[in-house]
Amino acid sequence: MEKIAFIGAGNMAEALIRGIIRDRLVAPEEIIAGEVNPGRREEVSRELGIRVTGDNREAVAGAGIVILAVKPQSLDPVLEKIAGEITGDQLVISILAGVSTRRIEERLGNEVPVIRVMPNTPALVGAGVSVISPGRRAGEDALATARTILGAVGEVRVLEEKMIDAVTALSGSGPAYFFLLVEAMIRAGEKLGLPREEAERLAGETLAGAGRLLKESGRTAEELRRQVTSPGGTTEAAVAVFRERGLEKIVIAALEAAARRSKELGG
Ligand SMILES: NC(=O)c1ccc[n+]([C@@H]2O[C@H](COP(=O)([O-])OP(=O)(O)OC[C@H]3O[C@@H](n4cnc5c(N)ncnc54)[C@H](OP(=O)(O)O)[C@@H]3O)[C@@H](O)[C@H]2O)c1
Repeated sequence: MEKIAFIGAGNMAEALIRGIIRDRLVAPEEIIAGEVNPGRREEVSRELGIRVTGDNREAVAGAGIVILAVKPQSLDPVLEKIAGEITGDQLVISILAGVSTRRIEERLGNEVPVIRVMPNTPALVGAGVSVISPGRRAGEDALATARTILGAVGEVRVLEEKMIDAVTALSGSGPAYFFLLVEAMIRAGEKLGLPREEAERLAGETLAGAGRLLKESGRTAEELRRQVTSPGGTTEAAVAVFRERGLEKIVIAALEAAARRSKELGG
């Protein structure tokens, strides 16, 4: 794989860099990051063993792949700065929420292929799921490259960009919904008389175990739920309350709100 430049060396960039090095997609010397924060520059170069610079133009020069990993509000000045340096031979991968491939293509010009990615935070432990969407000029080779890079931090799915608001609502923001449920289960456990630490441990392990079971058993969520829900039993009593109080409706309304917000932010 060609040299990779990251623009922005924050949390998500770090997760990707660690995955890329772990999977030996390129050697650390073949990775460079452009980062504004001097303290962070020092930290990243020390911990990851890659080159880090304060000059984004220097970062993108000579890189075959440029990964945009700044916050969306920092994008415009970044694109303005690097536009003259980027050519159609390079591939630009953006992980910025709410920024279309078209917007990046227009700012960069030069027939530059762009791929948009919606990752999620479990990428920080190599268990993410990322959806990648090709822009107008990104062909099969570009998609394959993006697939390999994002594959270093979890699963990868390819979907059309018009689905990105739904993806953002489901897998992009999704980890937080499960954390919210865990928080509520901890409070419920305490209310039922468990010490807080035990409730935290039990709820956290239950979420992690349920996730692993769903992934590894080859069964659907519905099958696994039925398996533990014996008629007249304890799980059935709880599920009945979830249903009576409209859990499914709440979840649908919540994801619709997230998708709407994603659309608004993307303009
Ligand atoms: N779906 C998801 O769950 C998900 C999760 C995380 C991230 N994302 C996307 O990933 C992107 C990165 O998020 P993150 O959490 O990694 O953010 P982050 O930790 O804030 O990282 C961004 C880094 O870029 C630096 N930076 C800002 N302006 C810059 C510039 N002009 N040139 C070079 N570096 C610059 C920042 O420095 P300062 O701190 O000094 O500004 C910071 O170190 C975001 O756009 C977000 O939308 C998606």
